[in-house]
Amino acid sequence: MLKVAVLVSGGGTNLQALIDAVGSGSIENTEIVKVISNKSGVKALERAEKAGIPSEVIRKADFESAEAFDRALIDSIDRSEAELIVLAGFLLVLPPALVKKYENRIINIHPSLIPSFCGKGYYGLKVHEEALKRGVKITGATVHFVDEGCDSGPIILQKAVNIMDNDTAEVLQKRVMEEAEWKILPEAVNLIAAGRIKVSNGKVELT
Ligand code: GRF
Repeated sequence: MLKVAVLVSGGGTNLQALIDAVGSGSIENTEIVKVISNKSGVKALERAEKAGIPSEVIRKADFESAEAFDRALIDSIDRSEAELIVLAGFLLVLPPALVKKYENRIINIHPSLIPSFCGKGYYGLKVHEEALKRGVKITGATVHFVDEGCDSGPIILQKAVNIMDNDTAEVLQKRVMEEAEWKILPEAVNLIAAGRIKVSNGKVELT
């Protein structure tokens, strides 16, 4: 049984996709053991509660220093005994010590086809605004391992999504979630739980 901790900051629709996929059996051999949010009162926490998953709020503002916050986050993950950490709309950069400790055991969902529209400052609606501004015809989503860089780790899965003529950033964001994110994130977790993902020379091999 793969134990998974999910880190969130907001709506939690990707968390919901994981909960549903575990429930329906399309993710096998997996238990979501904890949800950690860096914000209180967010919908993602409601979703965790409804699914009976323990959750914890760890807010930067409650700590004296960035180091103390980082330590609390790492301790919380360690205590959960999670073997895989999923960033599902988690809007903070992870402490380098956490990335190091859980090398190739942290994955993130990003709402574009990396290496397009990614890196520092590309999060949330901004990603879709930039895609529309550039006039690309196809965008999508990427699940990747988290390394010490920003959106730079080994790519696990990607899925393309068409951009339509009259798209706004909001409309596009929704389509990317529905057609790509909510599919490839559960799929990636299932592949990891099945032991089918190997990282070699900075690239993912599917076995
Ligand atoms: C998603 O678009 C995800 O790709 C990005 O943040 C958003 C989170 O949405 N990293 P939700 O909280 O899962 O609904």
